[in-house]
Amino acid sequence: MKAIYEGKAKALFETEEAGVLRVYYKDDATAFNGEKKESIDGKGILNNAITTQLFELMHDNKIPTHFIKRISEREQLVRRVDIIPLEVVVRNVAAGSLAKRLGWEEGTPLLAPIVEFYYKDDALGDPLLTEDHIRLLQVATHKEVETLRQLGLWVNDVLLDFFGQHGIDVIDFKLEFGKVDGTIILADEISPDTCRLWDKETKQKLDKDVFRRDLGSLTETYGQLLTRIGGNGQ
Ligand code: C5P
Repeated sequence: MKAIYEGKAKALFETEEAGVLRVYYKDDATAFNGEKKESIDGKGILNNAITTQLFELMHDNKIPTHFIKRISEREQLVRRVDIIPLEVVVRNVAAGSLAKRLGWEEGTPLLAPIVEFYYKDDALGDPLLTEDHIRLLQVATHKEVETLRQLGLWVNDVLLDFFGQHGIDVIDFKLEFGKVDGTIILADEISPDTCRLWDKETKQKLDKDVFRRDLGSLTETYGQLLTRIGGNGQ
């Protein structure tokens, strides 16, 4: 069957049911807007398992998401949404592009969580947007931006609590949202591909920075993360 959308790490297919899509998690890993690319055996299976667990956690906390259920090692059923072309990044600790932008040392805690919006546009390299830019682009209303910010902070509270219980710090993460009949719900994935997660004690990175920065085996790292949060990928 032909994918209706194929991204860097996932492909989306229609199903027989209107409004329901099948997501297939691939093994491809990319970084730096596709400049670094590799196929990593088993990554899709691990990300499907971790995302499933985290979306179920969102569900338990009454956060609306597109997730319906995991149907195989690499597949999920999700609700079809109109994706809002904004990447919503929430940060608790300076790392990555924020550390670079402010000239801060990675690992510097922020006084309070912050929310940033990036324009989902590969050709432009997903630039950081101000709220005025968002208004110019007409990709979300002022009210929708506020909803995205609140949902982002709410997801952060849930993730901080959950990972905290497993001895893991949530440094930052990226969310994507979509609309169904005008209502905004969480979409895409929450996985070590889209989060920075550090061991509280050793500060070991348990996320895609291992791939971006050539720090070791990505599947070992993601497998370790899955085990720590109580999953087994089955
Ligand atoms: O690179 P930067 O520091 O802005 O990334 C912030 C967070 O958003 C990181 O957890 C990173 O994994 C995630 N991110 C992502 N997809 C992007 C950009 C960032 O998942 N296109």
